Amino acid sequence: MLRKKIAALERAEDAMVFSSGSAAIAAAVISFVKAGDHIVCVRKPYSWTKKLLAELLSRFGVDHTFVDGTDPENYRRAIQPNTKFFILESPNSLTFELQDLAAVSAIAKEHRIVTLCDNSFNSPLFQRPIAHGIDMVAHSATKYLNGHSDVVAGVLAGSHEHMRQVMAKEFMTLGAAPSPHDAWLLIRGLRTLELRMHRSADSAEKVARFLEGHPKVARRALAGAGEPSATCARKATNGSRGRTDEH
Ligand SMILES: Cc1ncc(COP(=O)(O)O)c(C=O)c1O
Repeated sequence: MLRKKIAALERAEDAMVFSSGSAAIAAAVISFVKAGDHIVCVRKPYSWTKKLLAELLSRFGVDHTFVDGTDPENYRRAIQPNTKFFILESPNSLTFELQDLAAVSAIAKEHRIVTLCDNSFNSPLFQRPIAHGIDMVAHSATKYLNGHSDVVAGVLAGSHEHMRQVMAKEFMTLGAAPSPHDAWLLIRGLRTLELRMHRSADSAEKVARFLEGHPKVARRALAGAGEPSATCARKATNGSRGRTDEH
């Protein structure tokens, strides 16, 4: 039931549920690469996505390049003959920069590269990466999808074929299955996703507006604000405004 709901929300053929968002991302990546392969990932992703590439996969012979994802051509420039996987996180962590999902997925398709987008910060309410050509979408369901701070879980959505490959390869090996109770709580959390996302976006806008021009604020990052993120937001989202960060 939960898998069907996630697939419906992301307009995907199928979905899987994991014990954490990090488990969903690790299973998705590890299922599609082997020693000798290369991965291109947006710069400043979630810290443990970075560690997965820089500390775990590098020990097993999988190489990576981090790129400034605000220019899709940076993904093309980073491609090597052994590049097998692109990781996007739109908006990314800390700086909340969006990527042009359609442009990056088109580059990936030209080179038969599998794409994964971490959509945790936008939720399927504001952005559906599969509609823009991305192969798989991951979420930390611990955050917006559940929304009640009482579950740690992750989800992955994509085609039957991609989900079959993750299921056949790493789902059980990594011990990443969620508890039935957490899955039940997550179904409950999803019922209020729409209300929560709109309120969160409105609140982030209000906080950002209040702090605009504040003498003690040196730098402001609001997801979907400022170029080129604002153009990406217009192309691929329906209001990517839930995240704001002030320094
Ligand atoms: C963007 C993003 N992706 C993935 C994760 C990992 O999710 P989890 O905490 O459910 O393992 C997080 C957690 O903070 C995150 O912020």
